[in-house]
Amino acid sequence: MNDVAINAALVVGASGGIGSAVVDQLIKSQRYTHVVSVSHKSFVDSGSSEFDKFSNLMALETDYSAESINTLMANLSSFKGCISRIVICNGILHDDQKDIFPEKKLEDISESKMMHVLRVNALLPLLFLKELVALVKGEKSCVISVLSARVGSIEDNRLGGWYSYRASKAALNMLVKTAAVEYERRAKNVRLLLFHPGTVDTNLSKPFQSKSSTKLMQPSEVAMSLIKLMDRSDTGSNIEFIDWEGKKINW
Ligand SMILES: NC(=O)c1ccc[n+]([C@@H]2O[C@H](COP(=O)([O-])OP(=O)(O)OC[C@H]3O[C@@H](n4cnc5c(N)ncnc54)[C@H](OP(=O)(O)O)[C@@H]3O)[C@@H](O)[C@H]2O)c1
Repeated sequence: MNDVAINAALVVGASGGIGSAVVDQLIKSQRYTHVVSVSHKSFVDSGSSEFDKFSNLMALETDYSAESINTLMANLSSFKGCISRIVICNGILHDDQKDIFPEKKLEDISESKMMHVLRVNALLPLLFLKELVALVKGEKSCVISVLSARVGSIEDNRLGGWYSYRASKAALNMLVKTAAVEYERRAKNVRLLLFHPGTVDTNLSKPFQSKSSTKLMQPSEVAMSLIKLMDRSDTGSNIEFIDWEGKKINW
């Protein structure tokens, strides 16, 4: 499929609140010959019927194990050099069983739960960046956005708490910034974006929305602003940590 006419977009973690809104907006933009969604569960079955009408939506499933990511990449190899937008949305703050919940104090810390949050929020996006470098390297300009969070800013940490989530997003920022140095050398056509979406009305923020002092955003608004920010070409760097308004966040 190494054809200049192909212009594909890829969304990883596509069944979540923000991920599915990003897929929706990418499809609506009509700029992409293919929109590829990657998620735990079948995205098409759980998505709106609008997605079914878009024949070039390719919905891939994964359990995010190393083996499954390898199979996924093999399936995506036909898109080599043809992907211009990638959004990685994976992230957890709590789980439905209330087993994982943001820690309020040191005594709340559990090693196994923290390791799980670190894997999903920091390591998984890095594993994708590792696999994607060969797929996106080339002539076609490509922007890869990874959903981060302002609480991952070390300088901005005044409130404390949320040890696992905070640390995982700070680690994510460092890992993506480090990968950006290597991408600069190996894939100059790629720009990386660490994106704080604001407080968005999704399952992830539900238990905390009433306590948030910031405006509650709708996933569609955030997806639109992310897609616009990915189009900017005047950034002067191949890596940025920004919010949904395009404002820089301190590392
Ligand atoms: N909502 C907010 O207010 C807010 C604020 C700041 C930052 N963020 C960040 O935005 C991103 C998207 O969050 P959201 O609000 O859309 O939350 P959401 O609706 O709960 O979506 C969660 C996302 O995480 C993935 N995920 C969940 N458990 C996973 C696991 N065990 N292994 C791998 N992936 C897993 C899901 O992937 P599948 O599609 O494969 O299920 C989905 O993409 C996250 O990185 C979050 O930290 C959100």
